[in-house]
Amino acid sequence: MALYPGTEQDRRVDAGALGALVAAVFAACGMRDDDARLLAESLVDSDLRGIHSHGVLRVPDYVEKMTAGGVDPRGTPRIVGGRGAVVVVDGGNSMGQIGGTFAMSRAIERAREHGVGAAALRGSNHCGAMDRYAMMALAHGMIGLAATNALPTMAPWGGAEKIVGINPIAVALPAGEERPVVLDVAFGATAHGKIRVYHQKGHPLPEGWAFDSDGVPTTDPATALVGLIRPIGAFKGVGLAMVAGMLSSLLSGAAYGLESGNMVDGAVPGVDGQFFLAIDVSAFEDPVRFGARADAVVREVHRARRAPGVERLYVPGEMEADFTQAYLRDGIPLNLQTLADLAAAARARGVDVPAGW
Ligand SMILES: NC(=O)c1ccc[n+]([C@@H]2O[C@H](COP(=O)([O-])OP(=O)(O)OC[C@H]3O[C@@H](n4cnc5c(N)ncnc54)[C@H](O)[C@@H]3O)[C@@H](O)[C@H]2O)c1
Repeated sequence: MALYPGTEQDRRVDAGALGALVAAVFAACGMRDDDARLLAESLVDSDLRGIHSHGVLRVPDYVEKMTAGGVDPRGTPRIVGGRGAVVVVDGGNSMGQIGGTFAMSRAIERAREHGVGAAALRGSNHCGAMDRYAMMALAHGMIGLAATNALPTMAPWGGAEKIVGINPIAVALPAGEERPVVLDVAFGATAHGKIRVYHQKGHPLPEGWAFDSDGVPTTDPATALVGLIRPIGAFKGVGLAMVAGMLSSLLSGAAYGLESGNMVDGAVPGVDGQFFLAIDVSAFEDPVRFGARADAVVREVHRARRAPGVERLYVPGEMEADFTQAYLRDGIPLNLQTLADLAAAARARGVDVPAGW
């Protein structure tokens, strides 16, 4: 779910002001201005979409990685292989958002030429929410897919040892008059960052999200943070996570599972990997007919009979689009702790924080 419990500890923040502050922090870490802006924009966009677990909450970890010798703030992605519709990119130990944006852009270029384009990225780091990369394809009349590996937080079904990441996949499909369909899901019942949000707010976790380190169910966020995330759909979810991780790692030569990087251990350089796919609709089907049929799918969901007490049915990506509309108008609701941590990270890098932050 993109929604979090309780708003009593939240304050509304203007997206533009937030982006400017975060970009200044990343620039102060040594990033080039355009890269700092891109990274800041990607995090603020996640907050704008209600994905606060992958928004500016991440700034202190990213600063730590960039200043402790983990991520190279000036790392530059480059093409190192591939053929035809395929590119292999080395991120040069840049933030995943820098390498991921570069790699998805190349996949889109190749798709324009070949109908499909794929990019595998290595030498990468944490890349934030995956919807951003999948959605890059939409403006080109393409379907986008993006996957990443993630630090292992799940056990194989029935196990009690963290060896599989929750490895998300996002898929974005253009519609005609309706908003695009954007599914962005990890294969854990929750994301690690989301447990951190509950921990920060002192709320118990919903049932079915986590196990303790022996594989016993828990709703205590502190226990869950050192325990295991429960896969969605039992063995099916952990199986999907494995294949998303293998796609993200084995094609590019990036690390898989336990070999992966760690956002917390600042000095460890990125060995993470991602996979991107762009599919040009026009190579398969008349884009107008595709759009009209996608609209019909969306409208079918909206019209479908609802279970008792349910007010509205959503298509994937719709809630996030609604959040963006509301948050651009009213400001982004951010947790006070997130704002305090952001201000501390800014001051530590010598960046002025606006009065009353
Ligand atoms: N970079 C990384 O290492 C990494 C690792 C894990 C997760 N993530 C990111 O974490 C984020 C959260 O992932 P998650 O699995 O917790 O997401 P989630 O469980 O919140 O599910 C989100 C998806 O489900 C859809 N959805 C939610 N409620 C719906 C409803 N009632 N009806 C229809 N559709 C609905 C949303 O539109 C969205 O597409 C994602 O952006 C993911 O990419 C990143």
